[in-house]
Amino acid sequence: MNRELSMEFVRVTEAAAMACGHSVGRGDKNGADQLAVDAMRKMFDTVNISGTVVIGEGEMDEAPMLYIGEKVGCGGPEVDIAVDPVEGTNLVAKGQPGAIAVIAIAPRGCLLHAPDMYMDKIAVGPRARGCIDIEAPIKENLERVAKALERGVKDLTVVVLDRERHQGVIEDIRRAGARIQLITDGDVNPVVNAGIEGTGVHMYVGKGGAPEGVLAAAAIKCLGGDFQGKLAPENDEQVARCLKMGIGDINRVLKLEDLVKGDDCMFTSTAITDCNLLNGLSYFGNGVRTHTISMRYLTGTVRFIDAVHTFDRNNIEIKL
Ligand code: FBP
Repeated sequence: MNRELSMEFVRVTEAAAMACGHSVGRGDKNGADQLAVDAMRKMFDTVNISGTVVIGEGEMDEAPMLYIGEKVGCGGPEVDIAVDPVEGTNLVAKGQPGAIAVIAIAPRGCLLHAPDMYMDKIAVGPRARGCIDIEAPIKENLERVAKALERGVKDLTVVVLDRERHQGVIEDIRRAGARIQLITDGDVNPVVNAGIEGTGVHMYVGKGGAPEGVLAAAAIKCLGGDFQGKLAPENDEQVARCLKMGIGDINRVLKLEDLVKGDDCMFTSTAITDCNLLNGLSYFGNGVRTHTISMRYLTGTVRFIDAVHTFDRNNIEIKL
């Protein structure tokens, strides 16, 4: 993919984030999502790609826009697109940290068409690449990662979604002696954090959305880290959906190359509310400031983009 596209994708997540910026804390997660979807959809059509949404807002009959299979872009290279215009809709509704607008892009056929169901996930950063095994006990994973990071298990911090279904893994992590950061929502960000040294996050573990798993895998691939996933269908209908999306063996461990193939993916996310690495949207009357992370696997470039968007071209004011 042409490298200029990475900046175009920044515009796409910036537009989605800004569109729902005034919804923060207003208690309307669907309204916020709709604003972001509309803005993202509109911006995509200014980008020189022939894109197909493979991870989107739902099936064609469920979502009016950015549905799976929808074509976006104004012509160019054939690409797969994974979108989550608001990752962490509850966080936006409640005005809590960790909400982002996020996309991943790869050449056509390179992103897993993950069905909308749960996925078991484990992710670590570059120094622990090759040390994780989603099928091994968490204690074993922690010991291997600790060794790779040259620190004790007690000095590892693992992020886990605070859900009843995670009681077992939480107890196992505590028994192994590691620290835990429980989060209420939004499990793409912690995977990005695990990929960057100094964030204080060393591992992400647990069951979250499969679509978010593909987005997180694209991010950690760009960062040189590691990720494994296992689909977790909960009923026959979900098993049938896996088959329909071309996933024959639902028990298979999905490694990075299964989730995001090849060497040409890009990942972009703009913070809506404050995140570990990015400041959330800040307004100053005549403008808004956005913070975005943009990554390109091919070159390993990771950009942190701090942008000021002015509402009135004749009245520019930029504030720190
Ligand atoms: P939404 O943005 O769609 O609300 O999803 C947020 C999220 O927390 C994801 O980050 C995560 O993968 C999933 O929901 C977890 O699902 P659940 O809330 O059902 O445990």
